[in-house]
Amino acid sequence: MSPREPLIPLVKDYLRQEMTLGRWQAIAPETLPPEPGDPKAYLEKITKAKKKAAEKAKAAALPSGAGAPGGDGLQKVRQPFLPKGQDKAEDLRLLREYMLECRQCPLFKDRHNLVFGSGDPETKLMFIGEAPGEDEDLQGEPFVGRAGELLTDIIEKGMKIPRKSVYIANVLKCRPPMNRDPQPNEIDCCTPALVWQIKIIRPKVIIALGAFASRYLLNTRSGINALRGSFHTLRLDGMTIPVMPTYHPSYVLREYTVEVRRKVWNDVLQVVEYLKKN
Ligand code: URA
Repeated sequence: MSPREPLIPLVKDYLRQEMTLGRWQAIAPETLPPEPGDPKAYLEKITKAKKKAAEKAKAAALPSGAGAPGGDGLQKVRQPFLPKGQDKAEDLRLLREYMLECRQCPLFKDRHNLVFGSGDPETKLMFIGEAPGEDEDLQGEPFVGRAGELLTDIIEKGMKIPRKSVYIANVLKCRPPMNRDPQPNEIDCCTPALVWQIKIIRPKVIIALGAFASRYLLNTRSGINALRGSFHTLRLDGMTIPVMPTYHPSYVLREYTVEVRRKVWNDVLQVVEYLKKN
């Protein structure tokens, strides 16, 4: 065995994490020893998906300069969204259609897909994350990459709820380039849609995934360590919704320790107990 061999699984694990975070291009994964199905298969899958998504985006592209004087493609004025207020699924469908036309911030330019959110409009439980990553952008669905797999396990194996019975959304609906932090103008443009999603669904409880979603929902600058572990309150449109902040699944993947996982389990268990009583 070469002295480098024991390191290969570690390097590959790191690489998978980098892929999840959308930074894989920077470390040239093709220079690593190939392994059947991984990461070569991943790269092939992603290249194929990228090509398909690029074709789709090209077909749906606006004529250049559409929407704004000055030709930057941004919309300067937009009618506010108005739900019909009778059927949650229908209102979410209308909101999604409205967001598909959104050109309020520059993120629409590079996205392959709008990642609106998905799940059961009649659910009692909503999960809110930060923003789509590469996998989500390519597939148009929230939490479908590695962090999404972990989230699915938390919901299905941990909480014993089918993933399709909850609703999952993000603060931003379009992927920020290279998964950078959402910027204030992007949040200003995008969060009315999230607020509408919450107002339409009227969940009994929300799990905020990570510092970003927690800070936005609770209007605070506190860190996730201070926020997680207990319920906070979101007041919206006459509703008082308990919010449980917990670590973001991507963080859990990075810090895959017993302690971190135990904390997440503690947080979601409180939500399970809350749902039993409400
Ligand atoms: N991270 C998020 O915050 N949201 C997703 O949809 C995927 C990864």
